[in-house]
Amino acid sequence: MNIERFEDDEALSAALATHVLDTIVKRPSLVLGLATGRSPLGFYRELRERSGRVDWSRVRTFNLDEFAGLDSLNPNSYRAYMQAELFDHVSIDAANIGFLNGAASDLKAECRRYEDAIEAAGGIDLQILGIGANGHIGFNEPADGLCAHTHIAELEQESREANAERFGGDWTTVPERALSMGMATILNAREIVLIATGAEKADAVHGMIEGLITTRLPASLLQVHPRVTVMLDGAAAGKL
Ligand code: F6R
Repeated sequence: MNIERFEDDEALSAALATHVLDTIVKRPSLVLGLATGRSPLGFYRELRERSGRVDWSRVRTFNLDEFAGLDSLNPNSYRAYMQAELFDHVSIDAANIGFLNGAASDLKAECRRYEDAIEAAGGIDLQILGIGANGHIGFNEPADGLCAHTHIAELEQESREANAERFGGDWTTVPERALSMGMATILNAREIVLIATGAEKADAVHGMIEGLITTRLPASLLQVHPRVTVMLDGAAAGKL
């Protein structure tokens, strides 16, 4: 793993935006895997501010996950987050936005559709990831076993609490299930950049980089990938 340290979230976000935009310039039909949550907010802000400099019309995106039961118009959905933070502000073609439909009537079929769509796009070129304080990536939560492909995930209370803000602050109203890319879906990306800021991520970051590979810390599986960059602020790197 290639580790990069930054002064603060702003410097990290700017560097990530530069990397992604440079990659789009080199490869206009880039297939970009995206994350939601607090970690990429600065990155999306940078992309919005520099939206005029790059042509997004051939870029295709696939987001990591979506809450079960929420459709794309639900303001609490990750799709709504992505529209507000990025998609509404760049020249991306709506047809090129790949997203899990949490309100699909058959969620298993929806997971299969998503895997097929990623494959039909030629696979993910560059996947952006955050990391949970418990070491999850996407909604691949610590467990004795992990799913390879896009699947229905039961959310840990910790993960529901971490998302409570989107749901008015009450974690019990956060859906109990989500749809998420699996470990193989993520590890099949040709390049991965994981970002983490803040002291609450320091233990997970330490385990991910220096610990043994274990399904109890899903991000540790990234150690087997040949092209992973981990971008950290000082607090998240505090235990390395
Ligand atoms: C989001 C996702 C999650 C988050 C992780 C960190 O699409 O898949 O794995 O990346 O929970 O969340 P934040 O950035 O809010 O700390």
